Amino acid sequence: MKKMIWLLWLVSTLALAGFLGYELAYEKEKPNFLIGKSTHGHYQIELACDACHTSPFGGEEVLQDACVSCHGDELKASLDSHPKKKFTDPRNADLISVLDARQCVSCHSEHNPDITHPMGLTLPEDYCVQCHADVGEERPTHKGLTFETCASAGCHNYHDNRALYEDFLLKHAHDRTPSPQQLLPSTLKQYLASQRVEWPEENLHSIKGHAQVQAVTTPEIEHEWLSSAHGQAGVGCNSCHTSAPSELWIEKPGHQQCQSCHTAEVKGFLAGKHGMRLAQKLSPMTPEQARQPMQTDAGHAQLGCNSCHNAHTDNRIAASTEACLGCHADDHSLAFEQSPHGQLWQQVLSGERTAEEAVSCATCHMPRESVDHYGDSFTQVQHNQNATLRPNEKMIRSSCMSCHTLAFSIDALADEKLINNNFSGSPDNHIESIDMAVSRDVKHR
Ligand code: HEC
Ligand code: HEC
Ligand code: HEC
Ligand code: HEC
Ligand code: HEC
Ligand code: HEC
Ligand code: HEC
Ligand code: HEC
Ligand code: HEC
Ligand code: HEC
Repeated sequence: MKKMIWLLWLVSTLALAGFLGYELAYEKEKPNFLIGKSTHGHYQIELACDACHTSPFGGEEVLQDACVSCHGDELKASLDSHPKKKFTDPRNADLISVLDARQCVSCHSEHNPDITHPMGLTLPEDYCVQCHADVGEERPTHKGLTFETCASAGCHNYHDNRALYEDFLLKHAHDRTPSPQQLLPSTLKQYLASQRVEWPEENLHSIKGHAQVQAVTTPEIEHEWLSSAHGQAGVGCNSCHTSAPSELWIEKPGHQQCQSCHTAEVKGFLAGKHGMRLAQKLSPMTPEQARQPMQTDAGHAQLGCNSCHNAHTDNRIAASTEACLGCHADDHSLAFEQSPHGQLWQQVLSGERTAEEAVSCATCHMPRESVDHYGDSFTQVQHNQNATLRPNEKMIRSSCMSCHTLAFSIDALADEKLINNNFSGSPDNHIESIDMAVSRDVKHR
């Protein structure tokens, strides 16, 4: 009997080892090896270990390279005010002996839920003191301020200070409220040039060009398509429903089919929370996998381009708010329709205003951006809805300042209550950074 139990134990141990070994070597997702819950930013891809641990050897440098390969461009674009090169300078050797700011993991570790703050920060919140203990002496305006408030009160960020640096504050100290003016969508010709791709002539098949089209087409689909931007630009059924060279009919075109013409939109989509699983070749994200509150009836909806864009109508207006509310159900999202901005949006839906004079979810989360192409500038929609999300001062230049002053925008974005009720009401507190910059400027003259 004893022998039997022992044998059973041996067999099951071997089976388990074999199972785990197989997972380790061959499965893309490795749930049995996760050593601790991941951060809000990464949990969607936490089981794809090799997204970060690209090699089992090499330690810190391997992780550093992985961080930079996914986030390097974004930090560079944000004019990171504490880049690695600031700390490779030998004069700063004493600073990095306290906190090695050359390595991302000194401040952003992983699998440590107990010590993780917002934005994947795994340091105590007053850590600026490590290097700026003297700021109170150098700047009388800073005397008596506590170090937890440097980066939590709307004054500074560690990386991105594009809307908060001193010269910018001074430049906009006396602005009056501008009249609403958002970028206009580009025209077709400008738009295609902005995509930096040669217009693929061969994609312009006629609607009758494929035997399969005859088999599946309906008058409704043809009507929708004809009145859409695609129909009007001559982008035929085959452009989306077949892929060269096989020319087989694809029943449900995915982002791969849109990519040849919409490179920038696909790239942005894959870099944010909506597309990051697809970027790792994992199954698409769905609301039921989310940590945030979602509409229960949207549970199984798979995220892709047509989560927001109806396949054959490409309606920009519906994509800007109605689509979002089909999934998102947190307090902030649900408060939008009753907010002053939401009321303006109602006027767009009823035809009293243009989308450029109003505010939708997309105005803040997917802003139109100006991009340069051989010296001309064009407008494009940022499809990474995390690109302006955190720290939220990123929204100031990309959106708020087309309609509000800098001072009002800083105050509003520092007010958590206003974020929760989607900006219904005025800010409770005033952030003094502009006043401080002005008083120092006056003294120095
Ligand atoms: C989003 C990036 C990311 C993903 C995905 C990820 N890790 Fe990590 N992992 C890290 C970081 C960052 C550290 C911390 C390194 C430090 O603090 O020095 C770490 C540390 C570890 C450690 C501790 C040993 C060490 O090198 O410090 C182990 C073990 C580990 N991870 C295993 C895994 C496994 C297994 C998976 C997949 C189930 C996984 N990780 C997925 C980023 C990641
Ligand atoms: C495979 C690509 C990839 C790798 C590798 C990766 N990240 Fe990320 N990271 C993302 C994506 C995608 C998000 C979610 C979207 C966003 O917030 O930008 C994210 C989110 C974050 C956030 C949170 C931002 C927020 O708004 O909460 C931080 C901080 C971060 N990453 C730092 C790191 C660090 C440090 C490393 C290296 C240990 C790393 N990442 C490795 C793709 C990656
Ligand atoms: C000395 C600490 C420190 C180091 C080192 C550090 N970060 Fe951060 N990081 C922060 C803090 C603090 C935040 C929170 C937002 C802020 O204050 O700018 C942050 C935020 C972020 C974000 C969120 C988006 C943004 O623009 O702020 C990303 C992504 C990020 N860090 C990536 C990295 C990467 C990649 C590295 C390594 C190249 C790195 N960080 C090194 C402290 C650090
Ligand atoms: C590891 C050391 C270190 C830490 C931690 C650190 N800094 Fe710095 N910081 C520096 C260095 C070095 C400079 C460059 C000083 C110079 O150029 O004279 C700098 C410059 C600055 C500047 C002015 C320069 C600019 O380009 O805007 C500000 C503002 C600033 N830091 C704020 C902060 C805040 C806020 C924190 C915490 C969130 C912080 N720092 C954390 C080392 C650090
Ligand atoms: C811009 C790309 C694009 C063009 C152009 C296009 N389709 Fe589609 N089509 C799609 C997408 C995306 C789906 C939805 C797939 C899904 O549900 O996941 C779809 C779905 C369909 C379906 C499935 C039934 C339905 O309505 O959802 C049929 C049939 C169809 N398309 C026929 C056509 C015909 C006929 C044309 C030309 C008149 C055409 N499509 C033009 C992208 C396109
Ligand atoms: C063969 C090239 C091509 C393919 C493939 C393609 N598109 Fe387009 N798309 C265009 C052109 C051309 C326009 C017109 C731009 C304009 O009018 O400004 C356009 C416009 C759009 C618009 C804007 C509509 C508007 O009202 O301004 C959306 C949204 C869009 N496409 C989504 C998609 C999606 C999603 C896919 C994949 C299912 C896709 N496209 C596939 C060429 C293409
Ligand atoms: C989360 C919702 C959402 C998803 C997912 C999404 N889009 Fe969009 N897209 C929008 C909104 C909203 C606009 C219009 C914003 C405006 O008019 O300012 C837009 C505009 C566009 C445009 C108009 C051209 C421009 O200026 O960029 C194209 C093309 C486009 N999307 C393609 C795509 C493709 C391809 C995908 C899949 C990779 C995709 N979209 C996924 C919401 C989305
Ligand atoms: C098909 C469902 C779906 C649609 C439609 C959709 N989203 Fe999302 N969205 C998600 C899911 C799922 C997440 C990931 C949430 C999480 O990780 O907890 C997400 C994440 C986000 C985030 C990042 C949250 C964070 O904390 O990092 C923002 C911002 C966002 N969506 C805004 C929008 C906007 C704006 C629209 C419309 C233009 C939209 N979404 C349309 C499902 C959707
Ligand atoms: C006036 C600008 C604005 C508008 C309009 C807006 N948001 Fe936001 N949204 C924000 C800000 C600011 C945050 C907070 C970012 C931060 O600091 O974490 C946020 C956060 C979010 C988050 C993340 C919530 C979380 O718990 O982390 C989601 C999801 C989101 N918004 C979706 C939407 C949707 C859906 C709509 C439209 C119904 C919308 N937002 C309208 C500015 C806006
Ligand atoms: C396209 C223009 C536009 C953009 C962009 C915009 N707003 Fe507004 N916002 C308005 C208008 C117009 C009102 C006033 C509506 C009214 O008076 O009924 C308003 C009202 C507000 C209010 C309420 C003020 C009160 O006293 O009731 C707040 C707070 C606010 N916006 C914050 C923001 C923030 C923060 C951003 C950027 C994330 C932003 N807005 C982006 C046009 C805009």
